[in-house]
Amino acid sequence: RVLILDFGSQVTQLIARRLRENGVYCEIWPYNADPDRIRAFAASAFILSGGPASVPEGDSPRAPDLVFEAGVPVLGICYGQMAMCAQLGGEVEQSDHREFGRAFVDVAEPCALFRGVWAPGAREQVWMSHGDRVTRLPPGFRAVATSEGAPYAAFADDKRRFYGLMFHPEVMHTPHGAQLLRNFTHEVAGCRGDWTMGGFRETQIARIREQVGSGRVICGLSGGVDSSVAAVLIHEAIGDQLTCIFVDHGLLRAGEAAEVVKTFRDRFNIRLVHRDASRLFLDALDGVTDPEEKRKTIGRLFVEVFEEEATKLGGADFLAQGTLYPDVIESVSFTGGPSVTIKSHHNVGGLPERMRMRLVEPLRELFKDEVRALGRELDIPESIVGRHPFPGPGLAIRIPGAITREKLDLLRRADTIFLEEIRAAGLYDAIWQAFAVLLPVRTVGVMGDGRTYDMACALRAVTSTDGMTADVYPFDMAFLTRVSNRIVNEVRGINRVTYDVTSKPPGTIEWE
Ligand code: XMP
Repeated sequence: RVLILDFGSQVTQLIARRLRENGVYCEIWPYNADPDRIRAFAASAFILSGGPASVPEGDSPRAPDLVFEAGVPVLGICYGQMAMCAQLGGEVEQSDHREFGRAFVDVAEPCALFRGVWAPGAREQVWMSHGDRVTRLPPGFRAVATSEGAPYAAFADDKRRFYGLMFHPEVMHTPHGAQLLRNFTHEVAGCRGDWTMGGFRETQIARIREQVGSGRVICGLSGGVDSSVAAVLIHEAIGDQLTCIFVDHGLLRAGEAAEVVKTFRDRFNIRLVHRDASRLFLDALDGVTDPEEKRKTIGRLFVEVFEEEATKLGGADFLAQGTLYPDVIESVSFTGGPSVTIKSHHNVGGLPERMRMRLVEPLRELFKDEVRALGRELDIPESIVGRHPFPGPGLAIRIPGAITREKLDLLRRADTIFLEEIRAAGLYDAIWQAFAVLLPVRTVGVMGDGRTYDMACALRAVTSTDGMTADVYPFDMAFLTRVSNRIVNEVRGINRVTYDVTSKPPGTIEWE
């Protein structure tokens, strides 16, 4: 296993992705994690990530010394390379030749990292993002690649197995980057690359049994990928010691609640409490127009209803959650000051703290697509495992303005048509999220011989890898007009359809 020490780069998670794709288990910790913890992790190699700080600036962060004393290979990337250089006796200077984005390096000498991909004399494309550069190598190192702006774009100390790369091998814009990382883990560090989802399933089942013993576990099920996979995995480990609570807030899409119940109760034989609380939620949301107010209302009620159902069950010893790795990575921030809350994503806000239960979180180490792979391993239907992300507050944040049952009904029907057409065109898996938004405006139209004065809806479809940034999905016009015709003809009450072409940023994926 490999430990990645994070200096705060935007792309640190991608290092972990590339390693795990090659069957190497790894974790990301902040660079200043407790040295005793780092030692206890017993890494077979360390990777030092990039980061926004500048080494020549006095008190910029450094890797803990034990990293260089552990006798295992170390790879420094970008900022990590420069920190490593400075710490081992080299020199780093601010450079007036800043390199950002696509760049080229000239391979100077053979290196274990380059084996099978980069040969001396070749010019290779990489992705750079830095303003500093190494000007003197530490003792024991040799330069293995250069770039226009930097004589030491890559360097190596073969004896100690320390390597430094000024560019980012983890991003797709460094075409052979994944192979360079694989050479580091497999060839240099001797990782076997035998970490698989089947193996993960077995170890997690054993871990859950050990943690829970004969205790009772409750799990909030939403029908989303994460809670579904967590529930099925935990059920496989402890059977009827698990009860799932499905709080149905009445803001789900058409047919969704029934599918959740059918799948988990009938197919997986999981004990499931289905609480239809739609009246409660809709009453509380009556007249609420502010997006954050909607989220708070839904979050608060969710906790209340969940607690009520848990009490009816006589309580439990553990609360299971489908927390994923991106939620738990301790983030490193150098910007200082509080970050601005754009939207609060607190669907289960405060539940664990309030209920004072111990947590079972079997997916804490996984990325989203790994959770999907585990779900397939557990035979969870593709309709659940492959589904687009869906926000906790559901359709409430897809109806700008006040929510009513009638509006929910219109939105569900438009949304169903849009998704039917996307599936029929074979586009579902190419899209990160697609949905309809019911707009709080009425517009004039003409149907048959009559004038209509009905509502408008917007269609939204984006591609993304993590929801943090997103691009508009480029449907062709024929597709969009087909969807528009169907919605206007089949959903009485909507007479106009628009397509939202805003990327994120500056837009967000949801309208509220
Ligand atoms: P935005 O709209 O912020 O959304 O670009 C990014 C991702 O988060 C989802 N989202 C939410 N998920 N509770 C959630 O569980 C929320 O309140 C919430 N708001 C947005 C959104 O669907 C997208 O996947």
